Amino acid sequence: MMYWSETPFELGGGTRHAQLHVSGLGAGYGAFRVLRKLSLEVRPGLTVILGPNGAGKTTLLRALNGLLARQGEVLLDGQPLPHKTDAIVRAGVALVPEGRQLFPQLTVQENLELGGWLANKAERARRLEQVLADFPKLRERSRQLAGTMSGGEQQMVAVARALMSAPRLLMLDEPSLGLAPRMVDELLAIARRIADAGTTVLMVEQNVKKALAVADRGYVLERGALVASGAAKLLARSSVVREAYLGTGESKTEPGAVAPAR
Ligand SMILES: Nc1ncnc2c1ncn2[C@@H]1O[C@H](COP(=O)(O)OP(=O)(O)OP(=O)(O)O)[C@@H](O)[C@H]1O
Ligand SMILES: [Mg+2]
Repeated sequence: MMYWSETPFELGGGTRHAQLHVSGLGAGYGAFRVLRKLSLEVRPGLTVILGPNGAGKTTLLRALNGLLARQGEVLLDGQPLPHKTDAIVRAGVALVPEGRQLFPQLTVQENLELGGWLANKAERARRLEQVLADFPKLRERSRQLAGTMSGGEQQMVAVARALMSAPRLLMLDEPSLGLAPRMVDELLAIARRIADAGTTVLMVEQNVKKALAVADRGYVLERGALVASGAAKLLARSSVVREAYLGTGESKTEPGAVAPAR
């Protein structure tokens, strides 16, 4: 059984097709600057961030979500994005963190309800009904303790929990980490469906080939700097991606097919 329903996802609420504009972003840990003057655009649809371990992908998402201090300009649909996490969630940005971070001793339903903490009771109940319609498998398991779910199921809960805040921009940090190939495919298909339903998705993913197959656009981050960007189809054929991430150097990319990142 698939984890999502065949009907289109309903969640997303509010203004759809959000656009994020990032320029001159800096973030790091104390004196250690991981990101320097990073500029990128997250357009409606599905954008993937690729890059090796330690490149700064998680740091980028954490800085955008207010978990780390940041410098530079971040605009969500033209409005400055606040710096504090609760205000960022209110503005319509949600993060599914690396490693899921569910409450293992709470049930699936309790975890989902926590994702809707900013909404009033009636609205929270409405959203819960909607995510359970979108993820019927989670309805069956709503009373199971989250910590007893399989890794793939827990990732579904984490995504559904983020949707409970009715985000305009959903950020996913390596949603397929540690999952079996079929589950990876399901997760990526869910990310695609969420984007198609109107919530802009920004996803960090190590499954380069699969991620570029479902994404609209991509960025490649190396040592805190963007080294390539472009349409996902073009990136998949670019020499920088083929050599470093797909293990096939014999690319026939036309010059200029992929613009170097600004
Ligand atoms: N809490 C921290 N304190 C100090 N340095 C950190 C901290 N978290 C991450 N770093 C460092 O920041 C750099 C970027 O880390 P980050 O987690 O953003 O990489 P990543 O691209 O997400 O890697 P991965 O693919 O392994 O998840 C690394 O050099 C890492 O060691
Ligand atoms: Mg990471």
